[in-house]
Amino acid sequence: MNQSAQPEAAAPRVFIETYGCQMNVADSELIGAVLRRAGYAAAVSPEEADVILLNTCAIREHAGDRVLGRLGDLARLKHARPELRLGLLGCMAQHNRAALVEKAPWLDLIAGPDSYRRLPELLGRARFDPAVDVRLDRAETYADIAPEHEGGVRAFVTAMRGCDRFCAFCVVPYVRGRERSVPPEAIVADIRGLAARGVKEVVLLGQTVNAYRRGETDFGRLLRLVAAVDGLERIRFTSPHPCDMSDSVIEAMATEPKVQPWLHLPVQSGSDRVLAAMERGYTVEEYLGLVERLRAAIPALALSTDIIVGFHGEEESDFRATLELMAALRYDSAFSFKYSPREHTRAFKLGDTVSEEDKGRRLAEVIARQERISLERNRGLMGERFAVLVEGPARRGNGMLAGKTPQFKTAVFGAADSIKPGAIVTVRVQSATAHTLHCALV
Ligand code: SAH
Ligand code: SF4
Ligand code: F3S
Repeated sequence: MNQSAQPEAAAPRVFIETYGCQMNVADSELIGAVLRRAGYAAAVSPEEADVILLNTCAIREHAGDRVLGRLGDLARLKHARPELRLGLLGCMAQHNRAALVEKAPWLDLIAGPDSYRRLPELLGRARFDPAVDVRLDRAETYADIAPEHEGGVRAFVTAMRGCDRFCAFCVVPYVRGRERSVPPEAIVADIRGLAARGVKEVVLLGQTVNAYRRGETDFGRLLRLVAAVDGLERIRFTSPHPCDMSDSVIEAMATEPKVQPWLHLPVQSGSDRVLAAMERGYTVEEYLGLVERLRAAIPALALSTDIIVGFHGEEESDFRATLELMAALRYDSAFSFKYSPREHTRAFKLGDTVSEEDKGRRLAEVIARQERISLERNRGLMGERFAVLVEGPARRGNGMLAGKTPQFKTAVFGAADSIKPGAIVTVRVQSATAHTLHCALV
């Protein structure tokens, strides 16, 4: 009876803006589900929302600056409509809550990644007073909440939360808390539901996703459990840590056809000295050995990576070693970043030794080197055939469709209207840029 007490009152509408990595994308879908259960509706724009939530990232200073800028815009909205409630969620909420309260005193709500279950209650309180909840909870996996999937042929599914590695540069363990794995039954149930709604590909997520373990189920076993879901065609995962790349995982990749030949394997640096300072837990030789084993087991494998330039103490010779590693491994693609010292991390106290100018030059060099390698690699695929999972119209339009090859490369091709998103079609590569394969249907 209570629930229908005010049938005439429209449900409050929430708009969620997501920054940062795929974990945040998945978390925003989880937040959507939590709020929907509590009677909130989705708003299509910030202008028509009663509540605006920013799900934020703290990985580099730039990520935080973007959010602060956006908060400034939203403050103007709130000024015009004082009843609008503004909340800041995610990694930045956890990282700089004190600074945030000072810089953005108009915030109604600050909640960290382990507080989303309590959002309805916090929003209720925020109606009267600002509410802050940044308790980290080493057991929270949200296993009982099925996230709202945005639609589309691919879905991101959280397999593991938090991180225990504490790389010297990284803020993630401080903002996301201790590592914990979602029960396999919950993951499989979620994916069954997604497959029933037409999702063809899932990407299992975790900061060290291949360290997944829950009881007897390690990550290799989880991959096989997920592969058994009917209707699901493709499985990927990100990001694996080189130290957790066990035989069980490699074997599942090599033998389970649904697990795609694609691996994002962050290396960070090609210098042993820098890797040690970063506390990454492997040497260049160990990493090279791992890639050799992977490529032997999975011949079609495409490899991508993350690289940080200008970490504390990185000399020109260390940087050259990173370029050499890139030349030796010839990654299919790479994301590269200038080192950004983060408060709370071990490296923060060490300081920033590489000038902004040198960081910029090193970054440009890494990007140029990778562009060249990506282009050469993609051109080398000319004439080859690939099975492409169709996603929808190509970004450039003109009647073309786009999708991904098993190696997670974007393929664009002209196609008949009868081909719908979710279909898997065979294409042949006709020309290539560093980022796109231009193909023809076979
Ligand atoms: N868990 C993943 C990385 C997640 S963060 C792993 O261990 O591989 C994504 C990427 O951001 C990292 O791989 C790293 O390259 C970059 N990154 C993290 N902290 C950074 C910092 N303080 N400055 C610059 N780049 C950083
Ligand atoms: Fe950060 Fe290292 Fe954990 Fe990756 S493994 S999230 S880089 S601490
Ligand atoms: Fe950023 Fe948090 Fe992801 S810090 S990269 S959103 S885990």
